[in-house]
Amino acid sequence: MRVWAIANQKGGVGKTTTTLALGRGLAMRGSRVLLIDLDPHASLTRAFGVASEPPPSGVLNLFDDPSTELARVVRPSEIEHLSFVAAQTALATLERRSATQPGLGLALSNAISRSGTAYDYVLFDCPPTLGLLMVNALAAADHLIIPTQTEPLALHGLNGMCRTADMIERSRRRPLPVSVLPTLHDRRTRTGTDTLKTMQNQHGARVWNDAIPNDTRICTVEALTETAPVGQYPGRALSAYRRALDWLLDTESRLMEQAA
Ligand SMILES: Nc1ncnc2c1ncn2[C@@H]1O[C@H](COP(=O)(O)OP(=O)(O)O)[C@@H](O)[C@H]1O
Ligand SMILES: [Mg+2]
Repeated sequence: MRVWAIANQKGGVGKTTTTLALGRGLAMRGSRVLLIDLDPHASLTRAFGVASEPPPSGVLNLFDDPSTELARVVRPSEIEHLSFVAAQTALATLERRSATQPGLGLALSNAISRSGTAYDYVLFDCPPTLGLLMVNALAAADHLIIPTQTEPLALHGLNGMCRTADMIERSRRRPLPVSVLPTLHDRRTRTGTDTLKTMQNQHGARVWNDAIPNDTRICTVEALTETAPVGQYPGRALSAYRRALDWLLDTESRLMEQAA
């Protein structure tokens, strides 16, 4: 099982879209995939048609009772091989509780390691805040994927996220490889192409040498979760996500070789 955290401390950079597109791509290639929504805004959960009221069962249950089996909160999706765990709005209160409840930092690591061999990939859609939920995801992750917009302000967010990853890596004493996925890219603007170049110069081979284009026509969560025929990726952004997944899987095999 491989665990990917999709994270960026900035909102609106394409985290949820990336989680869905990569998860869907992996499932279409035959892997058993579990997406876990860690954002109290629950965009991923809503994308699968689960309402926030009344609160669905989901991630919060794994914190409320650490002996909860992951399988009890997993829901199937319309996409074959793709399941998900819903987020509840009340996840926002977790950060406050964490101070009084020690050991919560590994709640998700423990839950997924107890799930055994049920999944080939677990993908965390992280909230845009550096709190207990993101720390849980980064502690459990084998690979951190940072979607980032190609605009000057986003560079600060990217640097902040990389510093967070370094901090987590030191505390867990296990490498946390980072891949940067430029998203919402407009190659017709000078700012877009310049920022992409700066990003690649500053972060080197960690950055994908391509970008997910801005493609409002098809890149809605609704379009992503539609049950499109297997192998079909309608539109520019989705075909870019397919190339991004090829690159991520190549990166993974290199990492595994290095670790062997
Ligand atoms: N490649 C893209 N082209 C156009 N719109 C996109 C693209 N990726 C994401 N979006 C849209 O941008 C908004 C923010 O994306 P989202 O994935 O929800 O970001 P985050 O999870 O980081 O907040 C959403 O409305 C989403 O549909
Ligand atoms: Mg999101």
